[in-house]
Amino acid sequence: MSGVAKTKGPGDTVPAAGDLVVLNGVNKHFGALHVLQDIDLTIARGEVVVVIGPSGSGKSTLCRTINRLETIDSGSISIDGKPLPQEGKELARLRADVGMVFQSFNLFAHKTVLENVMLGQVKVRRTEKKVAEKKARALLDRVGVGSQSDKYPAQLSGGQQQRVAIARALAMDPKVILFDEPTSALDPEMINEVLEVMQQLARDGMTMVVVTHEMGFARSAANRVVFMADGRIVEEAQPEEFFSNPRSDRAKDFLSKILHH
Ligand SMILES: Nc1ncnc2c1ncn2[C@@H]1O[C@H](COP(=O)(O)OP(=O)(O)OP(=O)(O)O)[C@@H](O)[C@H]1O
Ligand SMILES: [Mg+2]
Repeated sequence: MSGVAKTKGPGDTVPAAGDLVVLNGVNKHFGALHVLQDIDLTIARGEVVVVIGPSGSGKSTLCRTINRLETIDSGSISIDGKPLPQEGKELARLRADVGMVFQSFNLFAHKTVLENVMLGQVKVRRTEKKVAEKKARALLDRVGVGSQSDKYPAQLSGGQQQRVAIARALAMDPKVILFDEPTSALDPEMINEVLEVMQQLARDGMTMVVVTHEMGFARSAANRVVFMADGRIVEEAQPEEFFSNPRSDRAKDFLSKILHH
C-alpha cells in the first residue's frame, strides 16, 4: 500500500512519503477474551483508513492501542519509525502526535472552548500562551465554531462539541488522528457538519484512522476500508471494491445489515 501515490478523489492526489503507523503481529487479551488477533496493519502518511465491523470486533481497542490507551500483549506498534514509548514525557508526546477523537467528545467541562484547544499546546508542546491562543482561534474558525470560543462545552450542541474536539486534536499538530465513531452520539442533523470537517481534513492530507458506520464518508474519503470481525482483520480493500464486491461471508453479511436497515 505504501510507497505509491494514492488517489483520494478526482484530480486530488496525495504523495505517499512512507509508512506512518505500523502494527506488526499485534495481540491483545482482556482476560480470556482474545480481542486483537495477529493484527498487521500499515498506514501510509496521508492515508485515510476507515475501520468497520460488528460490535465487539475490536475496533475501539485497535484505536486505543495505537496511542497506548491500551497496552498490547505481543507484537509491535511504531509511529513514524519509532516504537510506542512506555511512559513519562515520551508517552505524553506520543499522545500529542496521535490525536484521538471519541464518540463522547471528552472535552474538559470546566474549561471554555478556547481553553480546551489551548491546554495541550501549552502543557505538552510548551507553546507560549499568546501563540497557543492565536492558533486555537484559527482552528476554531476552521471547524466553524469560532464564535463559540468563550462558552463552556455544555453550552454547545453535540456537533459543535465534536468540532471543538477535532480542533483540540489539530492544535497539537498530530501526525495522525484516530476517530472512534465520532458521529455516533450525534443527532442526524449534526452528523454532516462533523463529517464535512473530516472530509476537509482528509483532502488536506491528514493521516486518519476512522471507525465509523458512515458508509458515505467511507466511500468518498477513505483510501482503504479495513473490515474487522472477532478481533481479526478479515478483509481490506479500496472502498469501491469493498462495497461492490466484498469477498468474505462475514463482510457480505455485515454490509447487508448496515446498508439495508
Ligand atoms: N476494558 C475492557 N475490559 C474487558 N473487556 C473489554 C474491555 N474493553 C473492551 N472489551 C471487550 O473487548 C471486545 C472488543 O471491544 P471493542 O470496544 O474494541 O469493540 P468495538 O469493535 O469497538 O465494538 P463497538 O462497535 O460496539 O464499539 C468486546 O468483546 C468488549 O466487550
Ligand atoms: Mg467501539
